[in-house]
Amino acid sequence: MSASTSAEPRGDGDAEDVAVTTPGEATTAEGSHDTAYSTYLALDTLLAIQRPKTEQHDELLFVIVHQIHELWFKQLLHELGNAQRSLASAADGPALRALRRTRSIIRVLITQIDVLESITPEQFDAFRELLGGSGHQSAQFREIEVVFGRSDRFAAEQFAPGSPDRKRIEGRLGEPALFDSLLRYLAASGYLPAPRGARVAPDSPEIQKALRAAYRDDGVAAQICERFVDLDQLLQEWRFRHSVLARRVIGDQTGTGGSTGAAYLRESVFKPSFPALWHVRDTGWAAD
Ligand code: HEM
Repeated sequence: MSASTSAEPRGDGDAEDVAVTTPGEATTAEGSHDTAYSTYLALDTLLAIQRPKTEQHDELLFVIVHQIHELWFKQLLHELGNAQRSLASAADGPALRALRRTRSIIRVLITQIDVLESITPEQFDAFRELLGGSGHQSAQFREIEVVFGRSDRFAAEQFAPGSPDRKRIEGRLGEPALFDSLLRYLAASGYLPAPRGARVAPDSPEIQKALRAAYRDDGVAAQICERFVDLDQLLQEWRFRHSVLARRVIGDQTGTGGSTGAAYLRESVFKPSFPALWHVRDTGWAAD
């Protein structure tokens, strides 16, 4: 988005709320950049919340890449909610659009790892001691894991009992996961007699038969299944890139969050979120 020079009202906003901001007027007498653009985006706040703990040049990058991830995590949860609501009401067009957008966001996240790879182990070591936490404690990431189907208590237990983060994650654990929404959609589309719980075994004959039928028809249901596979694959790709980043920057040292570090991260790389969609590829297509 470029700095606005437009006086056009946006959406349903009041035209008077949108200041006319020509380049000449962009800076006030006090020297602050109080334009419609900066006000709308709360730039004064946004640009004031990067607070490295050291004078080390590379720490700002570390902070910013984490903050950008958290913003995208917020958007991911927003889009995933939209995808789930659309699937629940069998609105396949909006569901596909939300799933595609989700896919694009995870791709963006993967490419951000590139930027962090430019920090050498020695540069990282110069501020690592002072970090005090790691992405391990990202509540939004844990929420995303739960939406993707993680059902154990691990995600919630990273946060203090009664804390807002823990309550939010516990709330998610009581809600349908993404794969539940897919099964609901497959039931509404006639591929399953009734919705089934996502904790159903990946090799459940009924689910496998439904998936095979959807793929065989090669219609919208198959496209939705393929977008689920995209998301599953991309989350694994992010995990892979992040685990290699950790290995590259801190070697085999333990993590700031208290885990074994890169070794811990490697364990989750090849764990699919939607195993039924991988299992259907194992069994052959002539079964029905
Ligand atoms: C130089 C950069 C980075 C290094 C060396 C690094 C290292 C690590 C390590 C060693 C862990 C294991 C847990 C622990 O801390 O003990 C971890 C976990 C994690 N990190 Fe990073 N990380 C980096 C950047 C990032 C960024 C930019 C994000 C974005 C939010 C992130 C998100 C996460 C998440 C979500 C976990 C939990 C993964 C899981 O439990 O499966 N990390 N990181």
